[in-house]
Amino acid sequence: MERIYNFSAGPSILPLPVLEKAQQELVNYADSGMSVMELSHRSELFTEIITGAEQLLRELMTIPENYKVLFVQGGASQQFAMVPMNLLGKSGKADYVNTGSWSKKAIKEAEKYGDIRVIASSEDANFTHIPAVNSSIINPEADYVHITTNNTIEGTAFHNIPDTGDVPLVADMSSNILSEDIDVSQFGLIYAGAQKNIGPAGLTVVVIREDLIGKASENCPAMLNYQTHSDSGSLYNTPPTFGIYMAKLVFEWIKEAGGLKEIEQVNRHKAEILYDFIEKSDLFSSPVEKGSRSIMNIPFVSTSAELDAAFIKEAKVRGLETLKGHRSVGGMRASLYNAMPVEGVQSLVTFMKEFEDHYK
Ligand SMILES: Cc1ncc(COP(=O)(O)O)c(C=O)c1O
Repeated sequence: MERIYNFSAGPSILPLPVLEKAQQELVNYADSGMSVMELSHRSELFTEIITGAEQLLRELMTIPENYKVLFVQGGASQQFAMVPMNLLGKSGKADYVNTGSWSKKAIKEAEKYGDIRVIASSEDANFTHIPAVNSSIINPEADYVHITTNNTIEGTAFHNIPDTGDVPLVADMSSNILSEDIDVSQFGLIYAGAQKNIGPAGLTVVVIREDLIGKASENCPAMLNYQTHSDSGSLYNTPPTFGIYMAKLVFEWIKEAGGLKEIEQVNRHKAEILYDFIEKSDLFSSPVEKGSRSIMNIPFVSTSAELDAAFIKEAKVRGLETLKGHRSVGGMRASLYNAMPVEGVQSLVTFMKEFEDHYK
């Protein structure tokens, strides 16, 4: 069977060479006579996998020495709770920026643990832009400031990371981690669910500055305490071993592709192809303000819900799948994660043009 172009927001497309390598190694990993799924997480072979994955991620993102990389479970949604449980140590206050559905969930969860203030929001504009965030609106006493760098559902992204001064910046980077070259030292903590640019669902990556570890209260469950995972090298309990193995293969693939600078260039090119077409189109349009557009998740609409439905149906026949927008916003959404080849975007645009010529 032919592979299709999968535009899903997550779980999403993975690089074909990664899937093929995993397939090739599946039943007998490194002559062990076992699959990675059957290896003990304390075995020498798995130790090589987890340390190799961490090393590659450090290299790709240029993660400074004073940051720990943690491989945990529970998804980004668990981080919505772990962040406040671990970081609300001093003032018990935190500032959040509300840029969409995932930010709202993070805020709602954090409100259970401390005094949470929303310092900027674009909710009154249907989250179609990223609100301005400057240091003057940040509470200098806050334990941290939280942003969602890329809003998967709404298709917006921060193009300038706010300067939060001495207040640590925490970022949900689930849908744009590894999509561009960033300066990790601007952040106190970065978290991301794996199922977009990292690998299969089930793994969550946390990059945390060391001084932010060890601030959780006494009654914080061990599994929800960053200290536990940091002290044990992410091996306090059985980690998602196969997910970590797949992440390592993805990191190797990114490195071979030239690293994040190269990946970013390709991602910008792919997004440009689609945005340029949408800009010129008489049928399709983008609901997102130009200066706030994401290069990972690109929502667009036609002129009616009926045409949107016809587009999604006909696209599927052409091998262009999972283009339906999130149920909360409707329309279409094309997610152009790292593994989506340029040809996939070109095929999408070719089909959009044909559809437009036919229906407009
Ligand atoms: C930006 C963002 N944050 C959080 C989540 C929730 O992630 P998870 O399903 O891993 O809990 C998602 C999922 O798509 C997301 O896109």
